[in-house]
Amino acid sequence: MPKYLIALALLAGPACASAADCSVDVDGNDAMQFDRKEIVVDAGCKDFTIRLTHSGKLAKNAMGHNVVVARAADLQAVATDGMTAGAGNDYVKPGDERVVAHTKVIGGGESTAVTFATAKLAAGGDYAFFCSFPGHWAVMKGTLRRT
Ligand code: CO
Repeated sequence: MPKYLIALALLAGPACASAADCSVDVDGNDAMQFDRKEIVVDAGCKDFTIRLTHSGKLAKNAMGHNVVVARAADLQAVATDGMTAGAGNDYVKPGDERVVAHTKVIGGGESTAVTFATAKLAAGGDYAFFCSFPGHWAVMKGTLRRT
């Protein structure tokens, strides 16, 4: 959330004055892009939710998107193993211990979400979020860190 929105939320009233924002919205489109490059997970959150939408029109077998969270150093290997695992596994190797969390693959007009325990992230760790659909990870990626 941009800082000015947080300021507005604080002004809005006590209902949202002290709660950390424990979720984030990410959108993917038909141009193979995410609408954000960074996700910051507040250390005050026990669980964190990533909501993924696909604002495009293309089907998931042509322009599928998911969100996978892993250490930045493991991104390419996780994506490569995911491609081998195939669409039936949402392009994530089953039981892959390098994967902190992942959503299913969605197509245009669809949405999904994943919630995970922030304890799975090391504070200050160098993580990435990316789409593991074949060929997408090189472009559809950003940084993720826990405060
Ligand atoms: Co994608």
